Amino acid sequence: MMQELSPILAIILENRGISSFSLYSAVRKTNILEVSEMIEGKEVASAGKLKYGMVGGGEGSFIGDVHRKAIAMDGLAKLVAGCFSIYYDDTVRTAKKLCVSDDRVYKDFKEMASKESAREDGIDFVSICTPNATHFPIAKEFLEADINVVCEKPLTVDETEAKELADLAKEKNLLFAVTYAYSGYAMVKHAREMVQRGDIGEVRVVMGEYAQDWLATRLEDTGNMQASWRTDPSQTGKSNCVGDIGSHIENTVAYITGLKLNSICASLDSFVPGRALDDNAEILVRFENGARGVFWASQVAIGHDNGLKVRVFGSKGSIEWDQENPNYLKVAYVGGPVQILSRGGGYMLPSAANVSRIPAGHPEGYYEAFANIYRNFATTLIKKKNGEDLSGADFPTVEDGLAGVRFIGKAVESSQKGSVWLDL
Ligand code: NAI
Repeated sequence: MMQELSPILAIILENRGISSFSLYSAVRKTNILEVSEMIEGKEVASAGKLKYGMVGGGEGSFIGDVHRKAIAMDGLAKLVAGCFSIYYDDTVRTAKKLCVSDDRVYKDFKEMASKESAREDGIDFVSICTPNATHFPIAKEFLEADINVVCEKPLTVDETEAKELADLAKEKNLLFAVTYAYSGYAMVKHAREMVQRGDIGEVRVVMGEYAQDWLATRLEDTGNMQASWRTDPSQTGKSNCVGDIGSHIENTVAYITGLKLNSICASLDSFVPGRALDDNAEILVRFENGARGVFWASQVAIGHDNGLKVRVFGSKGSIEWDQENPNYLKVAYVGGPVQILSRGGGYMLPSAANVSRIPAGHPEGYYEAFANIYRNFATTLIKKKNGEDLSGADFPTVEDGLAGVRFIGKAVESSQKGSVWLDL
């Protein structure tokens, strides 16, 4: 295997702290990338074999651009079509900047789904980066047009809609990813593998928090695009804070622990006057194995940016991961010292080592986490097209999205009923 990399290339790689074997494995896995392109870390969209389109991600928007940059990082897919905005002139300007050809710029997502599906060279998947309430109609349209889907979270604003999408994806045999970004971090994968191996024993207690302060005042009154729709029930759904960031706690905890939630008891609050939906929530949780926990999500926690932190306490040890310092994992074993594991260290477990892109000490973050999700989704899709085994798939699926929507719905219901315990 190793002799397939030239000796000069192997030396360059070693000098960069990348073992030829790990690079070879990555190349072999993707079966697509040009080695030189990976080494230089260029944006190599043109080298991609898959074609994708995007709905959302117009001018001034947030997450669509993150998706595009993350996809470009590995060059496995090329952007060829889009309906980037609710405003057509915005879509056209965005398409020009992104070099999308005129005949593949669409006024609305329905036109895009039907025309792309009819093309011989139509898109392999669509990325949906629009506000919550639009996810269901858009995802449904593309599934019905036999196009694979990557959709932002929360999957939908209603559990029956989420179930319908899950059923439809299954019936059509299409891939469907939901971009719970935090599952893409190397140290989150390391934590998950530690729990799976039994390193910390039986999980007893889980503490999850996501503290932000950006909605501590009425930002929605200032014309801020992101705040406006998130505080509007018709666009965001039944919950703002739990839907937007509590859902990340739920998914990250589920991913790391592998545990299902049995029941929850929630209190959703709206602290900023005049706001129709929650901007803070405390949720007590019980897991299927008897473990207990508390989730706290807040958009009014002054002094905090994106403070997602998950702590898992088991019978033999504990782990702690903090998304604002994501290259490290705090680990402790009963009676032993507290250890700080560093991403890129030689002791990393395989699932984490596989997604670690640069040597320890050069931080990886949000873009890489999204890129890891997309790389796995794209390679899985390529394997599927080639009729190969899909066992290496490791991206959040439509079923994870459904679990998230159920969690949000039950949290709202519990709070409305006076913070009662509800089964999930
Ligand atoms: P945004 O307000 O910044 O951008 C939304 C974009 O969608 C705008 O360009 C808008 O014109 C476009 N749009 C709206 N309706 C459309 C339609 N029918 N057709 C075409 N384009 C349409 O919103 P943001 O913050 O980027 O959030 C989008 C989604 O991403 C939300 O569901 C949000 O929950 C999720 N998100 C997920 C994150 C993660 O970490 N996974 C982080 C931030 C947002």
